[in-house]
Amino acid sequence: MKILITGANGFLGQHLCQFLTDKGFQVVAIGRGECKMPLNRIYKYISLDLTNVLKLHKCLYYEAPTAIIHTAAMSKPDECEAQKELSTLQNIKVTEYLLQAAEVLKAHFIFCSTDFVFGDNALFKERDVPEPINFYGQTKFRAEQLVQQSTVINSIIRPVFMYGNTYENCRPSFVQWVQRKLSANENIQVVDDQIRTPTYVKDVCNALTYMVSHQIPGIFHLAGQELITPYQLACKVAYQCGLNQSLIQPVTANSFAEIALRPKNSQLDIQKAKQILGFWPTSIDEGLRLSLF
Ligand SMILES: NC(=O)c1ccc[n+]([C@@H]2O[C@H](COP(=O)([O-])OP(=O)(O)OC[C@H]3O[C@@H](n4cnc5c(N)ncnc54)[C@H](OP(=O)(O)O)[C@@H]3O)[C@@H](O)[C@H]2O)c1
Repeated sequence: MKILITGANGFLGQHLCQFLTDKGFQVVAIGRGECKMPLNRIYKYISLDLTNVLKLHKCLYYEAPTAIIHTAAMSKPDECEAQKELSTLQNIKVTEYLLQAAEVLKAHFIFCSTDFVFGDNALFKERDVPEPINFYGQTKFRAEQLVQQSTVINSIIRPVFMYGNTYENCRPSFVQWVQRKLSANENIQVVDDQIRTPTYVKDVCNALTYMVSHQIPGIFHLAGQELITPYQLACKVAYQCGLNQSLIQPVTANSFAEIALRPKNSQLDIQKAKQILGFWPTSIDEGLRLSLF
């Protein structure tokens, strides 16, 4: 199977390109600018801005993938709130461009959405109607609707606060940020009034592999099953790395000048993914051990 992955220089995209290649899939990766994965000789990398619809369609028709996994996005809520036109283009219009090509190619289309399509009434099931409280969530919800209206086999995943190991010079996750700051003896402030279910990135890669291999349609919540605040997660990083936990100060979200609202508790119900995909999330302690050493 030939899988085309967008967002190849992003956190999930880098992991997914490597993961699917290791599993024997033929991977074509689209990223902006140069490939940031060190010594990438294992999958085909194409430098392309996805907003260039003509070049994008030409590339897709030439490559003719059997599946498209769309991870690229303007993924920072504050940036989306501040640049609504640009985030509409990046998150909604680009998804539409990709769907147009997927329909011609009859390719399975998998869209990476987010827990932020929901507001504050957790626990959320896949069938619950999204009610985003920030513009990022709104763009993702609109893109989800376009995906569901398409005529191809389509799937949507909603991961939460992903973390995992990082490759040299590649995008780090929150846990590496904490590790680096504490290693440099720097004080950090971390939010302690938001509850998340962090997702180990390789669990997402595993689930996506199963979905493309078996052409599984539908929405899937791919999240961890432990509830934790970012502050508590940072403390776990300090503990596992033998770093000074007293450098971490717990704060409330409103002590940051964030533009976009964030849900207090975005917990997702993962029963459907467990039953259909055999999704069994790695514990946070184990995920951190795999990510940090
Ligand atoms: N990380 C999380 O915790 C999390 C949680 C829930 C959902 N998600 C969703 O999961 C997906 C993957 O997340 P992530 O953390 O891997 O995101 P990320 O690290 O921000 O990666 C997104 C990638 O998309 C690329 N991109 C954006 N616009 C593009 C364009 N016009 N043309 C080409 N490339 C473009 C970016 O390119 P540049 O490198 O040039 O910026 C970046 O490499 C995203 O859709 C995100 O919304 C993430």
